[in-house]
Order: sequence, then C-alpha cells, then structure tokens
Amino acid sequence: MPVSEKNKLIGIDIGSHSIKIVEIDDTKKGMILKNFGMIELPQESIVEGSIKEVEIVSSALKNLLKNLKIKSKNVATSISGYSVIVKKITIPKKEEEDLERSIQGEAEQYIPFDINDVNLDFQIFPSGKEETEEEEKEELMDVLLVAAKKDIVEEYISLLHLTELNPMVLDIDAFALQNAFEISNHEQSGCHALVNIGAQQLTINVIKDGASIFTRDSSYGGSQITSELQKRLNIPFQEAEMVKLGAKPIETEKRPIIEEIFSSTITKWAQEVKRALDFVATTFIDIKVDNVLLSGGSSLIPGFSKYLGLETGLKIEMLNPFGNLEIKEKLFDAEYLNYHAAMAVISIGLALRSIGDR
Ligand SMILES: Nc1ncnc2c1ncn2[C@@H]1O[C@H](COP(=O)(O)OP(=O)(O)OP(=O)(O)O)[C@@H](O)[C@H]1O
Ligand SMILES: [Mg+2]
Repeated sequence: MPVSEKNKLIGIDIGSHSIKIVEIDDTKKGMILKNFGMIELPQESIVEGSIKEVEIVSSALKNLLKNLKIKSKNVATSISGYSVIVKKITIPKKEEEDLERSIQGEAEQYIPFDINDVNLDFQIFPSGKEETEEEEKEELMDVLLVAAKKDIVEEYISLLHLTELNPMVLDIDAFALQNAFEISNHEQSGCHALVNIGAQQLTINVIKDGASIFTRDSSYGGSQITSELQKRLNIPFQEAEMVKLGAKPIETEKRPIIEEIFSSTITKWAQEVKRALDFVATTFIDIKVDNVLLSGGSSLIPGFSKYLGLETGLKIEMLNPFGNLEIKEKLFDAEYLNYHAAMAVISIGLALRSIGDR
C-alpha cells in the first residue's frame, strides 16, 4: 500500500567513507526517486561503526541536507558492525505482549554483552511451513532477535539531534540492504546472498524466498587497501585513495606492490564471503544459494567480482537498486546515478521506511 508522502522518511546512510541521503516518493503510480546525494567524511571521523568526530560528521550532514534542499526532519538511519547482533532463537510459544515483557530474560544467554548495555528488539517468525514437527509438538516458535549496544545507538541519536533531525527509525545495514533488494527488479524467489562491501564494513544477508536466514558483519573494506597503500608507498591517506581509484598515475616499479595489496585484500574478502556461504550450506542443508548480489563502493574494485565467482562457484551480479524506481531525467544525470549506484543501496533501503516502522 502506498504510504502517504508525509510519513515517508529521509534515508541517511552514515558510512565511514561517506554519508548518503535518499528521498523516495511513494505514489499511486509507483515509487519515484526524489533526491540522492552523498558527501565524503574526513578519515577516522567514524571508526568501527563508532562516531569519533560528532561535530565534523554533523556539519557534513548539514551541508548535504542543504545542498539537496531537504526540509523534512524525519529520518531513518542505520548502524552496523560488532555492536549489533542478529540471531534467530527458538523459544516456547507465547503471545507478543508476553514476549515484550520477558525478552530480556530470553535474550540474555544469546548476547555476548551485558544485557543492560543493549537495546533489544525482536520479530516473531510467522508459524507455517517452515515449522518443524518438533516445533509444532513442543509448542516452540522462532524469533529474530536484534540487539544493539546502547552506547553506539546513543552516538547516532546524538548526532541526529545535534543536526536538528528527528530519528524515527534506527535500522541495521543488513536489513536496509534487504529492503533495497526487495524493491529492485532482481528475481525475488529462490535464495540470494546480498553482500555489501564499504570502506570498513562487509555485510552479508542471505535471503530465502523473501526472508533473511543469515546475516553477518565483518570488519573488512576498502580502507584496508588505502591504509596499506599509504604505509607501503609512504604517501598520505588521500593520495593513497587516489592511487587506489586509479586517479593518480604511479611509477612502473611500484605497480607490483599495488597489485599485491589489491590481490591479497580481495582474497580475504572473497574467503570471508565463502566462509559465510559454507556456514549457510551446512546449517540449511536443503538450501542452495542461487547467486550473489554485490553492492557497496568496494565491490567496484576491478577483478573482485570475477575472483569472488571463482572462489564461490556462484554467479555474481551487481545489485541494481534503481531498477524499479522512476527516475526523472530532468532531475538526475543517469551517468552520475549509475556510477554511485553501488554506494546508494543502503540509503535507498532506509528511504523505504515510514514513521511507525520499527
Ligand atoms: N570505483 C571504485 N573502485 C574501488 N573502490 C571504490 C570505488 N568507489 C568507491 N570505492 C571505495 O568504496 C569505499 C566506500 O564505499 P561505501 O560508500 O559503500 O562505504 P561506506 O558506507 O562509507 O563505509 P562503511 O564500510 O563504513 O559502511 C571506499 O573505501 C572507497 O575508496
Ligand atoms: Mg556502508
């Protein structure tokens, strides 16, 4: 059902390399891209998902909102990394209100942090064909548990308040990625591994017939390559970033160093994805992953997609988040959008959220 415009939220993806903002209009005729923009952040203003330089990030965010002429204050943003835990647990059947009251006790044994240090949320899996016979007999139910460390949540809320915005939805990257996939024109049935590789974060969400069956965040990303180039070539981070993107010519004798850094890093990423998929294969023996859909700026590294295909034996495609969105030629340059599509994915997923979502 189309959501009325005034309930639609501004999607803000606060990545360690850049902030992305997307606004989507949900109309009777379909969804229309209303706004898209991004702004880079200085190195180390966000480290391992934690905001180190709140003033700097806030002023970058203010500038971007101003450039995009965004007036609405109601936003959806997301967090990721080691401070977020997503787990499917099986517990005795109970009503949602009862679970609301007892969730802390139920969750305690599954969370590696002090239960008082986390914000908890949950979603009851609809009972149905997935239910095993034992579950039926013993009156069990599956619950998706989401726990986020309070200090990280506080950091993001404070940043948004400082920027005079109202945080209405605090999502996690893995679910925003899933939402973006759901409105794309990629095949939905079957099993698809969504992989987002940014500057510091590698997020995996495996979707089977519309439901998430596995998520994982790892501390891998393009910054690893930039930092290594900085160290080995003894150049500033910004210059290393340009070398990485091929925007700065480099002496022939230094090329082998660069190639070695690229190949050793993308090997690690591909192995991490492979490990996750192996885990899925052993946990759900009757499920076969059909393909991998890539996104995130670092998925654009030349050769990565091909290498991941060899490592996993799967078909690797780029997730196109714009496929089902109407894009007004007058407002957007197609080339600009295409170039930034990989980085826009999470913010698109966030812009699909409405007030009242949890
Ligand atoms: N064409 C490209 N080729 C290679 N790397 C690229 C390209 N474009 C962007 N990157 C790299 O992608 C990263 C940025 O991607 P993205 O915007 O997805 O990350 P982020 O969301 O800011 O970071 P985080 O990992 O904290 O979520 C940077 O490391 C950047 O150097
Ligand atoms: Mg990101």
